Amino acid sequence: MDPHRSACPTPDRPVVIVGAGHQGRNVADILVRGGTAVAGFLDDTRTLGERVNGVAVLGGFDRAADGELLQHAAFIVALGDNRIRRELSRAIWQRGGVLASAIHPAADVSPSARLGAGICVQAFARILSNASVGDFALVEGLTTIGSDVVLGEAAFVGPGAQVTAGAALGEGAYVGANAIVVGPARVGAHTVVGAGAVVRGDLPERVLAVGAPCRIVRPLSAAESPFFAQPRSTGNSVPLT
Ligand SMILES: CC(C)(COP(=O)(O)OP(=O)(O)OC[C@H]1O[C@@H](n2cnc3c(N)ncnc32)[C@H](O)[C@@H]1OP(=O)(O)O)[C@@H](O)C(=O)NCCC(=O)NCCS
Repeated sequence: MDPHRSACPTPDRPVVIVGAGHQGRNVADILVRGGTAVAGFLDDTRTLGERVNGVAVLGGFDRAADGELLQHAAFIVALGDNRIRRELSRAIWQRGGVLASAIHPAADVSPSARLGAGICVQAFARILSNASVGDFALVEGLTTIGSDVVLGEAAFVGPGAQVTAGAALGEGAYVGANAIVVGPARVGAHTVVGAGAVVRGDLPERVLAVGAPCRIVRPLSAAESPFFAQPRSTGNSVPLT
């Protein structure tokens, strides 16, 4: 285990949320409901001292490298962009920071599931027996992560999506809202599956695939964000690496 790693669903220190866009605001809601103190948001697009849903903005992303904050707070990176979420989370670890997770109290997580660090699991998500959720993964509400499913590091499962027993998502894979990945299909790393798709066979790395049955539309370049279909709360800069 990484010596800097600390999976901490309910940390004994206040939590700094990196990103004050919709993911960040939803994470704040989960933490507040669960009784976890929220120290504030970091977001390059907001102004220091501004309040977002009553939570103070403490500065931009660069404050995640601030020694004092690293010592006294835990962090969760709540950005929809899988690549940036992973890079910022890893940078915080490398600086010795503690990562918190946000698991909604209405999520149903099997005791045999393995949950990574720095993850978010939204309301009414079901994570069934022996499923594995990789570090920094984001599991939206009303999803089912079936038995023995493996979600790679910084994977994203959109609202209402079903990943059925035995399926696997590679690192940074993105499954759109209401899509179904039928086990034992494998979705390659950094591949994007469009909303409502039905995936029954393996998909390679870094492709965009849509429809039911799913078809590959085009390859994705390494620079292309898997989050290109969504409004951004931040720019592309990853200042901590
Ligand atoms: C697939 C997606 C990422 C768009 O990617 P894009 O590169 O902008 O794709 P385009 O709009 O250029 O569409 C490419 C082709 O795929 C089709 N397409 C796009 N999204 C589709 C979808 N979800 N289902 C079926 N077909 C789709 C387009 O009609 C187009 O078809 P054509 O080439 O025959 O004209 C987006 O449509 C999508 O599904 N995003 C998921 C959003 C989501 O679930 N968000 C949850 C966040 S909380």
